[in-house]
Amino acid sequence: MQEAMNGQLNAEIFSGYLYLSMSAYYESIGMPGFASWMRVQRLEELTHAMKFFDYIAENGRVRLAAVDAPPFEWDGVPGPFEAALEHERKVTGLINGLVETARSEGDLETEEFLAWFVSEQVEEEETAEKIVDMIKSAGDSTEELEKLDGELAMRT
Ligand SMILES: [Fe+2]
Ligand SMILES: [Fe+2]
Repeated sequence: MQEAMNGQLNAEIFSGYLYLSMSAYYESIGMPGFASWMRVQRLEELTHAMKFFDYIAENGRVRLAAVDAPPFEWDGVPGPFEAALEHERKVTGLINGLVETARSEGDLETEEFLAWFVSEQVEEEETAEKIVDMIKSAGDSTEELEKLDGELAMRT
């Protein structure tokens, strides 16, 4: 279980790294609001990572592993958010896998700890889906995309 939890700690750190790379990408294509949203998301992923860090440290020993390099390029404005949605679906699968492991080991404490992440992943997927839809509705309209950029800039 501890090994699997350390793996998830790495996955959450990678998520933060991925969103940070997406932020740099949006900055480079002149979308500062999208870039700012991604920065905030990166902080959220770091809080997820620290929840795992603290939980593992309380029950055993944290082992930090190498973090993969995130992608550098995406397609246009929709690219990163489409990839983010796909990524969050993958993370949901990882969390569900951890829950199964905890159950099979009769580890109720870990199962309870993971319950927060199960609901969090529902939200993460919903948020990414919503923004992917908003980008699709904006289509190729520069005006609409800039309006959306302004809305995403509001996230703190
Ligand atoms: Fe996360
Ligand atoms: Fe996430």
